[in-house]
Amino acid sequence: MLAPASVADYRELARRRLPQLMFDYVDGGSFEEATLLANRADLQRISLKQKVLRDVSALDTSTSLFGQKLALPIVLAPVGFAGMMARRAEVQAAKAAERAGIPFTLSTVGICPIEEVRRATSQPFWFQLYMMRDRGVVKEIISRAAAANCGALVFTVDLPVLGTRYRDIRNGMGVQLPLLSRLRMAANFASKPGWIHDVGVRGRPLTFGNLAGVVKGANSLGALLHWTTTALDPSVTWKDLEWVRSIWKGPLILKGVLDEADAREAVATGADGIVVSNHGGRQLDAAKSSISVLPRIAEAVGDKTTVLMDGGIRSGQDVTRALALGAKACMIGRAWVYGVAAKGEAGVGAVLETMKRELRTSMALVGAPRIDAINRSVVEG
Ligand SMILES: Cc1cc2nc3c(=O)[nH]c(=O)nc-3n(C[C@H](O)[C@H](O)[C@H](O)COP(=O)(O)O)c2cc1C
Repeated sequence: MLAPASVADYRELARRRLPQLMFDYVDGGSFEEATLLANRADLQRISLKQKVLRDVSALDTSTSLFGQKLALPIVLAPVGFAGMMARRAEVQAAKAAERAGIPFTLSTVGICPIEEVRRATSQPFWFQLYMMRDRGVVKEIISRAAAANCGALVFTVDLPVLGTRYRDIRNGMGVQLPLLSRLRMAANFASKPGWIHDVGVRGRPLTFGNLAGVVKGANSLGALLHWTTTALDPSVTWKDLEWVRSIWKGPLILKGVLDEADAREAVATGADGIVVSNHGGRQLDAAKSSISVLPRIAEAVGDKTTVLMDGGIRSGQDVTRALALGAKACMIGRAWVYGVAAKGEAGVGAVLETMKRELRTSMALVGAPRIDAINRSVVEG
């Protein structure tokens, strides 16, 4: 490949650069990966309507969410452990997002802490929260997000327990491996010197920055697994959403909604927005794809709340499809991680530039020069 042209090309570059175990952690889904595949397949099945002679000389991809102006209807999704894919990846991605004029969302289990991302940027980024058993830790982290002037709190609720991910198990995550397997893993790491230097040497300290002091030795995927099984609170309910609402004053977004009744309850409990999401096919395998449930959720609550969507978005055409079916904007997860793993901050910038170019082209070809002109009428059928 002389020059990457698409998000799929950045995925290939990331595959070459990362140790197998890291690539599989990003790329994979839960169980048989049926939902992961459905997220892509169902998007690809949606045909856009080609429209002609519409004067598309002035295209405008900007929009606004929660009073914030965005240059593109795209938000970088929270990705735990991103800083293991490239040196201080959360900071690199936040800077690329800022340059592109869109928000970055920092995961609770990012390598870089809130304060480090804050120091590196001047625009507000978003913060993603998981409900932990220790409510004192949760309260503290929410006040750190408020002190850093985070533009929104994204409360992720589709992970009361961790989905089983066969690829991670096969790669030895959370498993005591025999000596021969450990040697094979070491040989695979040794074959990626660029990654070792970037992450292992220059990317330190490799800890869950937001939870330093709460989780120890969090520098392996095994530690991440251990954290999810011990620190996350599976007893979380709508009451906790009420509690979060009472202490977080800014925009509050509930992430991981796939059901209309849940969407209505989110609105009734005071969420300002929802993300229609199945966690990128990493949680309930056999769940519907995000794009297939988006229309009925948008129908149910789209006039009362801000509906975002993620899962399988890999191009500007996909963004057009999601907006046409009722999303105000899309989150992208793997797309930005492939970019940062391949080429750091510049890679995230290039992925966003690629998606912007694709979005502009599809807007022109469906005859919708502004974001608010992308609606059902641009979809076939
Ligand atoms: C490697 C990886 C780690 C993730 N970690 C988190 C996380 O810490 N918090 C969260 O809310 N979602 C997490 N997600 C889910 C993403 O925020 C997002 O919902 C998903 O990636 C969207 O699908 P896509 O990757 O096909 O764009 C993660 C996804 C991936 C791929």
